[in-house]
Amino acid sequence: METNGDARPDNSGSVDAEDEKKRRGGCGCWIMVLIILAGGAALSAWLMGMIVTREEKPLPGEVAITDLGLRYVAVPGDFSNLRNPSIMDTAAAGRGRELFGVECAICHGPSGKGDGVYGATMYPPAIDLTSTRAQTKTDGQLYWFVAHGINLSGMPAFGKDYGGQNNEQEVWDLITYIRTLQPK
Ligand code: HEC
Repeated sequence: METNGDARPDNSGSVDAEDEKKRRGGCGCWIMVLIILAGGAALSAWLMGMIVTREEKPLPGEVAITDLGLRYVAVPGDFSNLRNPSIMDTAAAGRGRELFGVECAICHGPSGKGDGVYGATMYPPAIDLTSTRAQTKTDGQLYWFVAHGINLSGMPAFGKDYGGQNNEQEVWDLITYIRTLQPK
């Protein structure tokens, strides 16, 4: 015997639709949405507050995570593999050294150890360029950081393409010089 189909032959579809409407209207989902939005806003405000008002040094985990981001995410693929045309070129290193004294030493320190007048107290502090963290990056990655700068840090852009003052050769001169820096 046919049962349901026969009981409401023609208008079964529309009755179902109305039921559905009633159920949706009454579920209170919008309250959940509001709670989630408010929670999200509170969380971001709290995080921004921590970041903006904090004075101590970044935690080791933060440094590691930032470094992973810089190493594997921040630099566009075609930059990472760029080759330094002036590699091991002492004249280029000399030019880079002069530029470094004028443009970079104030933050990274006269010999690149991150102990410049401003660098040590910035958040994050200007990196020690003699460190493994910096020296294990590729020439192309270093090129990108110097030319393009690092967003959300004090590292400015020096490349002409990004509003800075150095042309391509000058940026490579700086990288060649950075490669000569020795840890103490
Ligand atoms: C106003 C301060 C300031 C100046 C000037 C500055 N830097 Fe930086 N630099 C920073 C900060 C801050 C960082 C980010 C450190 C971090 O990510 O932990 C940084 C990061 C870098 C990095 C990335 C290193 C890495 O492995 O993550 C390189 C390379 C670099 N700077 C080179 C230079 C060079 C070359 C100059 C000069 C042409 C220069 N910087 C000038 C503050 C500065």
